[in-house]
Amino acid sequence: MSCIELNKGFTMKEALLNAETAIESYSPNQVFFCPEESHFYSQCLEKLVLKNCADDELVIEFGAGDGSPVINALLKTQFKGLIHGYELNPVACEVARSKIRQYQLSRKYVIHNTCFFKGLESLPANYLIANPPYLPAPDDNIYMPSLHGGIDGATITKKLLSVDCENVLLMISGYSNPKETLEYAVSQGYKVVDFMVSPLQFGYYSSEPKVRRWITELRKRQQAFYSQNIYFLAGVLFKKQGSNATPDLTDELIKVMTVL
Ligand SMILES: C[S@@+](CC[C@H](N)C(=O)[O-])C[C@H]1O[C@@H](n2cnc3c(N)ncnc32)[C@H](O)[C@@H]1O
Repeated sequence: MSCIELNKGFTMKEALLNAETAIESYSPNQVFFCPEESHFYSQCLEKLVLKNCADDELVIEFGAGDGSPVINALLKTQFKGLIHGYELNPVACEVARSKIRQYQLSRKYVIHNTCFFKGLESLPANYLIANPPYLPAPDDNIYMPSLHGGIDGATITKKLLSVDCENVLLMISGYSNPKETLEYAVSQGYKVVDFMVSPLQFGYYSSEPKVRRWITELRKRQQAFYSQNIYFLAGVLFKKQGSNATPDLTDELIKVMTVL
């Protein structure tokens, strides 16, 4: 995951959101902190989900983190529905709730300090959104265990694709077994209806020696794709097959994600 310098394209409100996080000065081992990645997730939310939502849509989010990606996207759209964000980390939840109050978004974004999979039954949502933990490693003894995505990095992503939500927006990394993940989505009845891709540099979490060594191993097994300088992160909008006439872009996305 990339943690390089703040993107120059931030608006004033976004800059404020990021500045607050910096002032709180939590260690990146306490609260997920990757401005480049969170900003890209926010752009994907805005363009692929919130701008296309009808008035009364219900959205559920796995892993809200400090809440800034959803808050940034809400500030740029006229979304009138409700987003329930689930986050295991109590410190991240407090930061997110404080930002939500500050931006007066309490009627649009609610944070639950509980495991996403426990909160599921009661909420038949129109959209499931997530920048899920996707760090591949042999075990979760890494800087931030809650970012562990299983042996190939795709375990939680696949679990989210098994929830059976009609529309799913997920961030998928080129070093977390993207081809098998996309094939799994097809097996679960999904097609890719839209996507955005961004080049990112390996950052704090993915450069941890144990993780980086494991990613190198996955590359030999054709499960990780990256160059010396970058990897691709995709924001992917999945929809259940047959729901409309939109073409399936799965094959095109597999080509993009495995090109490096
Ligand atoms: C990659 S971070 C993304 C945070 C935020 N969405 C962002 O993009 O900045 C993944 C988040 O998922 C949270 N998480 C991991 N497992 C979870 C679970 N079972 N239920 C809820 N949140 C979880 C982690 O604590 C972490 O904050």
